[in-house]
Amino acid sequence: MEQKSYILITGASSGFGREIAVRLSENNPVILHGRDKERLMKTLAACSPAGKHLIWEFDLSDVNGVEESLTHFLLENNCVVGGFVHSAGYMKMLPLKVLSVDAFRQSFDVNVISAGMIAKVLMKRKVNQGALKSIVLISSNVSNFGVKAMSAYAASKSAVDGLMRCLAVELAPAVRVNSVLPGGVRTAMTEQIYQNEEITEKVDATYPLGPGTPSDIAGAVKFLLSDDARWITGQQLFVDGGRTINITV
Ligand SMILES: NC(=O)c1ccc[n+]([C@@H]2O[C@H](COP(=O)([O-])OP(=O)(O)OC[C@H]3O[C@@H](n4cnc5c(N)ncnc54)[C@H](OP(=O)(O)O)[C@@H]3O)[C@@H](O)[C@H]2O)c1
Repeated sequence: MEQKSYILITGASSGFGREIAVRLSENNPVILHGRDKERLMKTLAACSPAGKHLIWEFDLSDVNGVEESLTHFLLENNCVVGGFVHSAGYMKMLPLKVLSVDAFRQSFDVNVISAGMIAKVLMKRKVNQGALKSIVLISSNVSNFGVKAMSAYAASKSAVDGLMRCLAVELAPAVRVNSVLPGGVRTAMTEQIYQNEEITEKVDATYPLGPGTPSDIAGAVKFLLSDDARWITGQQLFVDGGRTINITV
């Protein structure tokens, strides 16, 4: 019997990942990944039609356990993955004077290394039957630019894009690999930054197209996964309302 092909979305319990999962569930069965069962169930309830989708609970900071956990999950559920979206992410604003090895490690483990290990599992013929066609990694516009107190996070996102480009070359022509670089959007991750109304107004004014939403990110991911993007690989797609091309003073 042919195995059902799913789209795996990490970080589907919140923010962009939840929105991406809900959007993609309209046309595909999805595997919702996250740590928090309650929040994952909330995403599942918003997916259409619920029932056929699956949930993979795993803490991605355990990078050494990723291969075994995902392999076991796929074999146990007798399913394969045709598309992989890595939206799980760790971000903490830390000026250099308080930066720690642990904060660096957490950023790289969750944002970069786990994505690479998931891709490795999905390329194993015995596990995923050659089903993988497309990978989209959620990077950030700070991958290419400088921001105060973001060095560990930005370094990890630059590494995400390095991983993306190398996998795009290594896995072609079977698999396309791209990244989406969002600008600042209100989610659980950034809520604290948007607490101050004055700062919010100042930040919003730097976006020529005005503030974005998780739905704007989901639209870009859906496009990159689709056949409309069949000749696009190894690319960083900025989805930031023009924030990073704006040099207005
Ligand atoms: N929001 C923005 O302005 C913005 C801008 C640029 C890039 N991004 C990137 O977009 C992605 C999504 O961010 P978001 O804004 O949607 O944040 P969010 O709402 O806080 O969601 C973060 C997701 O990552 C998961 N996650 C975090 N640590 C994890 C771990 N150790 N193991 C497994 N899952 C883990 C969380 O799972 P649990 O809920 O289960 O803990 C949650 O589903 C991230 O990669 C972020 O860096 C965000």
